[in-house]
Amino acid sequence: MNQTIMLLPSITMAFFFLMVVRTCNSVDTIAVYQNITDGETIVSENEIFEMGFFSPGSSKNRYLGIWFKNASPHTVVWVGNRKTPLTNTLGIVKLDSHGILSLYDGSGSVIWSSHSSASGINVNPSAQLLDTGNLVIQDGNILSKKIFIWQSFDYPGDTFISGMKLGKNLITGREIYLSSWRSADDPSPGEYTVGYLMVKGKYPQVYIRKRSVIETRMGPYNGIAFAGQPNYKLNPVYIYKGDMVLNQKEMYFMYTFSSTTLLLRHITTPGGKLEVWHLNMHNQEWMQDLTFPQDNCDNYGLCGPYGSCSTVTFPNCGCLKGFELKNPEELNPGNWTSGCRRSRALDCGPAEGFLMFSSMKLPDTQNAEFDGNMSLQECEVACNNNCSCTAYANPNISSGSVGCLQWFGDLIDVRMYPQNGQDLYVRLAASEVLGSKKGSLEVPLFSLSTISRATNNFSIDNKLGEVGFGPVYKGVLEEGQEIAVKRLSKFSTQGLDEFRNEVICIAKLQHRNLVKLLGYCIQGHETMLVYEYMPNKSLDWFIFDDLRRSLLDWPQRFHIIHGIARGLLYLHQDSRLRVVHRDLKAGNVLLDCDMNPKISDFGLARMFKGHESEANTKKVVGTLGYISPEYAANGFFSVKSDIFSFGVLMLEIVSGKKNRGFVHEDHHDNLLGHAWRLYKEGKSLDLIDASLDKSWPVSEVLRSIHIGLLCVQQRAEDRPDTQSVVRMLGGEDLLPSPKQPGFFIQGSECDLTKNISLPSSLNGVTVSEIIDGR
Ligand SMILES: *[C@@H]1O[C@H](CO)[C@@H](O)[C@H](O)[C@H]1NC(C)=O
Ligand SMILES: *[C@@H]1O[C@H](CO)[C@@H](O)[C@H](O)[C@H]1NC(C)=O
Ligand SMILES: *[C@@H]1O[C@H](CO)[C@@H](O)[C@H](O)[C@H]1NC(C)=O
Ligand SMILES: *[C@@H]1O[C@H](CO)[C@@H](O)[C@H](O)[C@H]1NC(C)=O
Ligand SMILES: *[C@@H]1O[C@H](CO)[C@@H](O)[C@H](O)[C@H]1NC(C)=O
Ligand SMILES: *[C@@H]1O[C@H](CO)[C@@H](O)[C@H](O)[C@H]1NC(C)=O
Ligand SMILES: *[C@@H]1O[C@H](CO)[C@@H](O)[C@H](O)[C@H]1NC(C)=O
Ligand SMILES: *[C@@H]1O[C@H](CO)[C@@H](O)[C@H](O)[C@H]1NC(C)=O
Repeated sequence: MNQTIMLLPSITMAFFFLMVVRTCNSVDTIAVYQNITDGETIVSENEIFEMGFFSPGSSKNRYLGIWFKNASPHTVVWVGNRKTPLTNTLGIVKLDSHGILSLYDGSGSVIWSSHSSASGINVNPSAQLLDTGNLVIQDGNILSKKIFIWQSFDYPGDTFISGMKLGKNLITGREIYLSSWRSADDPSPGEYTVGYLMVKGKYPQVYIRKRSVIETRMGPYNGIAFAGQPNYKLNPVYIYKGDMVLNQKEMYFMYTFSSTTLLLRHITTPGGKLEVWHLNMHNQEWMQDLTFPQDNCDNYGLCGPYGSCSTVTFPNCGCLKGFELKNPEELNPGNWTSGCRRSRALDCGPAEGFLMFSSMKLPDTQNAEFDGNMSLQECEVACNNNCSCTAYANPNISSGSVGCLQWFGDLIDVRMYPQNGQDLYVRLAASEVLGSKKGSLEVPLFSLSTISRATNNFSIDNKLGEVGFGPVYKGVLEEGQEIAVKRLSKFSTQGLDEFRNEVICIAKLQHRNLVKLLGYCIQGHETMLVYEYMPNKSLDWFIFDDLRRSLLDWPQRFHIIHGIARGLLYLHQDSRLRVVHRDLKAGNVLLDCDMNPKISDFGLARMFKGHESEANTKKVVGTLGYISPEYAANGFFSVKSDIFSFGVLMLEIVSGKKNRGFVHEDHHDNLLGHAWRLYKEGKSLDLIDASLDKSWPVSEVLRSIHIGLLCVQQRAEDRPDTQSVVRMLGGEDLLPSPKQPGFFIQGSECDLTKNISLPSSLNGVTVSEIIDGR
């Protein structure tokens, strides 16, 4: 009771003092040796913040604090003597000549003071409470430079307001984080902290921790919001601009808030929630904007590694696509601690890829590396090139996909939002990626400028040749990958969607004996296909050259025949598209660095035909010497026309001679007719290329010639199907006797097809053309 009586005069004095000071000036400033006693306050220039002594909640203890001047209820943003309360009202605050602000208790002992690293003699220091809520101590001399000897913003309590930094000084190691009060009555540090957890070299992010245990992760800041609060939609009447700074010296998050009528604060509650409130200065009431954690999925790592949490499913936990429960038997509802594992192990093979997950909370970045300069594309390449990289993402939404986060290790604390999350790209085994992209296989679209650069502006030096539907150029992409670019000369730009669909279809045809389609380009009047580059050119470059044909020994030739047959079988039967090539020939069999054959130009005829039926076409695509009789005569094509071309090719590989243009002193037959003659005379072995040394296995050569003759029989129905060809090549079974081949007399293609008008450009023997067959 005594105390109350004693208080009254001091309060009265305080008001008196305030009135006096106010009429002088600088009610917001404490000068050296000026005393602030309990009951007195200083107020920032525009009366937004006030500093003085207060008692929190129902406590009687006295604390030095800063609060919003005109808020109801009384809202403290900063406390000086958090851990050392005064038990009476005898506290005095004083600034000494060194610029240190001290709080003395009634007996004259210092119970709290502003520590400062800026030592030395300060001339005429002063302490000032700014309108931002920051209490700053400045040196009289360097006032103009705005260098603070000390500022309360560096020592936050539970409240984060505009202009404060949350982060770490990387040089001194000092961290700035929020810590909850113990209770509403006790501002001493409680169990919860909100702040960055810095792992050296990793990307920083904000957590709420209970002592050292992570409770929830707000995540990295993405330029617009924290990853853990993507739907943090603030009231549109105010402008909230967050900024994360990461450099050699410091790392911090701060926000600036501009409004003339509203104030904003983030507060860490004693119960471990981060709450955002705004104050309407007209009615002086606080309104809550957000509380975090918000839902079950905000529990840190709830679903374990590679698990993903969603509040719209039950249970909330699930595995990311491509992953399955690690311990399905141990699972008890609600406990997903052990999480998920890959359904298919990674083998670091070239076909591994990334699956994009949209609207995600990016995984914990404690094991993620950051590069602020990489584009998303560069990010993918980098992650793809390092087998331990499990995922990548662009952390910064506002920068337009610049900046790269790469994860090394498990993906933890992932959740899926109904909207507004971020894109995450997770590495998966090849089969998973293909399976997941069912029907929408991505085929890269190259820009014309990329291809121009790669091919040196389609320079003549880069031209590989002119086969099929246009010239082919060699190119090198910026990453160093060699490509072959086919510039489609005859393609009209009308059916671009059709073209694109066709490209996607063709890109799905993947077999080790087919040349891989890497992408395409549509720009202006140009349509191009980009293939992998084959260093050993094409089969015709070897077998029809007097010198080079000796480089191909019999085992290699047989291997090539086999490979072509398997590629053809895939096209005819094993692929879902059932493609008839229609222009199989030595020039369309390319050779990789190990001399494996790869069929090229498959699907092109299909692409040019559009919707025409398989049975009939007005236009004949093909190359003289390889065209089957029924195709040349009636435009009738089927897998059996490809088999005919394959038979021609086999005989060419065995003999090293071209079917068309074949000359023999004894007769006018072409290669097929010649082979037929020798077969009937039992002298088939005479057909074999003289440049081969004599070590070839007789039975294999004879068998190859025999199968070749079966394939070129006049009537399509007599020819074996592709599967039989592959079986015959691999087996020892007796073969049926071949009947007379089609087109065995030189030039007979033309004789039989009088009504085909051949374009004059057809003089070149290996040039394919679209022959108008009307
Ligand atoms: C400040 O308080 C001290 C006692 O703590 C007193 O000696 C001193 O005179 C006071 N100074 C002013 C300017 O009131
Ligand atoms: C969840 O399961 C793990 C072991 O699988 C166990 O260590 C943990 O205590 C369990 N947690 C809960 C909340 O049941
Ligand atoms: C990004 O590029 C700028 C300028 O080229 C450079 O100063 C900076 O160090 C780079 N940052 C990183 C993380 O590589
Ligand atoms: C992959 O990245 C990790 C982490 O940066 C690094 O330690 C490792 O050396 C890299 N591996 C390769 C093959 O580059
Ligand atoms: C995000 O990008 C914007 C625009 O480039 C940049 O100003 C900001 O600092 C970036 N933020 C982060 C967290 O990288
Ligand atoms: C390629 O062509 C473009 C435009 O025609 C020209 O600007 C560029 O210099 C050329 N580049 C080369 C390597 O010839
Ligand atoms: C095939 O290409 C590879 C790689 O370019 C080369 O080393 C090899 O000699 C070539 N083979 C032949 C028979 O030319
Ligand atoms: C010519 O065309 C007609 C109809 O397109 C076809 O019936 C005929 O078989 C073709 N060949 C000859 C040699 O007339």
